[in-house]
Amino acid sequence: MNIALLPGDGIGPEVIDQAVKVVKAIGQKFGHQITFTEGVVGATAIDATGEPYPDATHEIAAASDAVLFGAIGDPKYDNDPKAKVRPEQGLLLMRQKLGLFANVRPTFTFPSLVHKSPLKLDRVEGVDFVFFRELTGGVYFGEPRGRNEQGTKAFDTNMYSKEEITRLARMGFEAAQKRRKLLTCVDKANVMATSRLWRETVQELAPEYPDVKVEYEFVDAVAMRLIQWPKAYDVLITENLFGDILTDEASVISGSMGLMPSASLGTSVKLFEPIHGSYPQAAGKDIANPLATVLSAAMMFDYAFDLKEEAQLISDVVNQSLSEGYVTEDIADGGPSYKTSEVGDWLAAKILA
Ligand code: IPM
Ligand code: MN
Repeated sequence: MNIALLPGDGIGPEVIDQAVKVVKAIGQKFGHQITFTEGVVGATAIDATGEPYPDATHEIAAASDAVLFGAIGDPKYDNDPKAKVRPEQGLLLMRQKLGLFANVRPTFTFPSLVHKSPLKLDRVEGVDFVFFRELTGGVYFGEPRGRNEQGTKAFDTNMYSKEEITRLARMGFEAAQKRRKLLTCVDKANVMATSRLWRETVQELAPEYPDVKVEYEFVDAVAMRLIQWPKAYDVLITENLFGDILTDEASVISGSMGLMPSASLGTSVKLFEPIHGSYPQAAGKDIANPLATVLSAAMMFDYAFDLKEEAQLISDVVNQSLSEGYVTEDIADGGPSYKTSEVGDWLAAKILA
């Protein structure tokens, strides 16, 4: 297994280090030969090369069997809307050049953490749904975009082809078949032409998946129902921008954003990353929660290598660290807490125990 490591910015390098410890331990335990190749991306890459996603990094990623990615972003760019190169461009370029059209973002609960959820216990216990967010189309990439000559009007273009919708929707249908067989198509078909194409395309595909029940809901209603009745959902499919917004909302339902992993899938190599961002305030302090990245490594064994036992063992030790309270400050609830690197060491040791 040839794994590309793209730690990126902020806490990225620290949390990736812990995932590497865990992956190495799995390799040792199950007898897999694993090699790591590292590349730069984001603000770190701009500082080093002037580019947010250098060709050299792309080559490393494209040649790998799977990519483990940390985070992108640096506050020095956030309040400078005129900056010519931005770290986020690196992420968008990476998604586009690697053909990562589907972003899989699960929300599930950890029994020992449900009390940290912003929702009432009876609403959140047992929540288990997954978003398939379209990742290389829509308003993120549509042309034209820009300003009029006077600079007083700005525009973006939301654009979808039937083909882009179909390939994402099929992934959603197939995932639903393996789960509770409910698919929710999230759109704004009462207002937007792109959404009407989404709905029409999904309606045409539905007869091919007779075992899956399909529901169509408007994005504003889903924003509300996700916090009101999160258990009502199984698999949700949606366009890039709606998915960006709703998956942030979804990520806190389980109690902490520091816990949710994600996978980006597409035409070739698969990429795995925590949902949380670069958390610059914590960078270099050895306090960031590494569990989302470690769980992303679990998703990697499952989705990229079809190694379920390895993936399951990683989730098991993560659950064990939660129930035994061997966790970072953010989820320690005033109890004893451990450094990022200590949690990584603990998890790796448990895997080999
Ligand atoms: C995400 C992030 C990115 C996005 C940003 C950093 C460009 O918010 O992965 O959800 O909007 O897709
Ligand atoms: Mn986002």
